[in-house]
Amino acid sequence: MPPIAASMNKLPDDQMLKLAAQSMFNVFASTAMGSMLVDRQHRIVWISESYKQFLPALGFDSAEAFVGKRVEEVVPNTLMNEVIDTGKPILVDLLSNQAGTFLVSRLPLRNEAGEVIGAFGMVLLDQPETTMQPLMTKFARLQRELDSARQQLAAQRRPKYSIASFVGSSAAAVEVKRQARRVAQTDSTVLLLGETGTGKELLAHGIHAASARSGKPFVAVNIAAVPESLLEAEFFGVAPGAYTGADRKGREGKFKAAHGGTLLLDEIGDMPLALQSKLLRVLQEQEVEPLGSNQLQRIDVRVIAATSRDLPAMVAAGSFRADLYYRLNVLPIRLPPLRERLGDLEALVETLAEDISRRSGLPHKSLNADAMELLARHDWPGNIRELRNVLEQATLMTDDRSLGARHFGALLSAAAQPKAPVEPASEMPAAIPVHSPSPVEPDTWTPLPQALAELERRSIRQALQRTGGNKLAAARLLGISRATLYQKLALIEAAASHNAPTTLQGD
Ligand SMILES: Nc1ncnc2c1ncn2[C@@H]1O[C@H](COP(=O)(O)OP(=O)(O)OP(=O)(O)O)[C@@H](O)[C@H]1O
Ligand SMILES: [Mg+2]
Repeated sequence: MPPIAASMNKLPDDQMLKLAAQSMFNVFASTAMGSMLVDRQHRIVWISESYKQFLPALGFDSAEAFVGKRVEEVVPNTLMNEVIDTGKPILVDLLSNQAGTFLVSRLPLRNEAGEVIGAFGMVLLDQPETTMQPLMTKFARLQRELDSARQQLAAQRRPKYSIASFVGSSAAAVEVKRQARRVAQTDSTVLLLGETGTGKELLAHGIHAASARSGKPFVAVNIAAVPESLLEAEFFGVAPGAYTGADRKGREGKFKAAHGGTLLLDEIGDMPLALQSKLLRVLQEQEVEPLGSNQLQRIDVRVIAATSRDLPAMVAAGSFRADLYYRLNVLPIRLPPLRERLGDLEALVETLAEDISRRSGLPHKSLNADAMELLARHDWPGNIRELRNVLEQATLMTDDRSLGARHFGALLSAAAQPKAPVEPASEMPAAIPVHSPSPVEPDTWTPLPQALAELERRSIRQALQRTGGNKLAAARLLGISRATLYQKLALIEAAASHNAPTTLQGD
């Protein structure tokens, strides 16, 4: 037997370990395409002969200039510093910098007490693009997929609305945004009050987006648009098997759907009395009981209620429960009508015109000074929604890039005659022309469908005026259901915004 082997057999284990470490170091240092040692302070203390081939690409012409530098300063994208700081090896990694792409390995070095004293780094392969083609292709594809998934995720998370989407820098608008930011920090119920079209829904979205719940759902229910008989199921859900037939499987209510997030109860003033007490209980207990079930489900929902109606007057008239009103009125925010913040008109026009052009694909149109002057003289009973409709119609009616007063004259004169309604919170939809031509003019002939539609519009308008915008009361007065009234109003509004004559259909 050769003497070396004989002496090895007698080696104590710790000696053996030391020699193993030594041999491995030598093997790696000589066979790797390059290796380096870095101390605890991240300073390069040694590089192998082979490592010198990379120096020119790293911007060094001699090993003397390179050794002694902090590794992160001279080797871009290195993770040697991380290995030293965490004490954990990075066995295989790809390092890319101006010198190329390398397959590298980095190991921490420890003293007898186990403390990290530095790190050993090796370049195992250079140009892995060619030597490891299949793996690299896969790596590149995965990297691309990861990048695009990250981008999509970021786009989804970015809220569509923010409090800043509420355009305006007038004192009144700034105050609204200040209050909205303040309530966004809390979990309390918020009550948004303001005339139709003042931006209540927009602000509700903004509050949700600025709150800690922004990653969770935002669910909106328009109480006035849901037939009264379906409201309870809509809110609280239906237990499986509660009904036979189509709904056998049960249905999730909006409270459940908004779990963890925010629920907007829009048009809260239209809530039927019977349901008001049930809603109050849900708000107090944070529990819902789906129809046909006798089990309570815990829910965690922040409620934002909105209305254009005069709730205190409704409380006084007995059509809105006082206890529910006080429960909702914890943090009220009043949205000013447009006529009280005409200073914001220009900024609003700018934003709305941009949005209209983006959605319609038509070129952006700007307003000249006499158009702005005309708009500033208008009363805006339908507030920003009305402004939007007017701008949309003016944009569609002409190819001119600059809109002047003449483009708005016809659009505003009809609505401008009656001044602000006496009732401050009138819900009259802006899109209903307040002075429409009489259905039968002496020397013009109106076909029956149009004449009927005209008549229907007038009745609806009068009913809304008579009830101060209360849709439930107006529907009763008209002898139709609230849901039907809502459908008709939606049709009128849609027709008005397309500037086309409407034929209102019956149920
Ligand atoms: N401050 C604002 N800045 C920009 N756009 C606004 C602003 N306020 C309202 N809008 C726009 O006006 C329109 C009406 O707003 P929104 O639906 O929020 O009003 P609302 O108060 O909920 O009305 P309603 O009581 O009739 O439901 C929307 O198109 C909205 O984007
Ligand atoms: Mg609304």
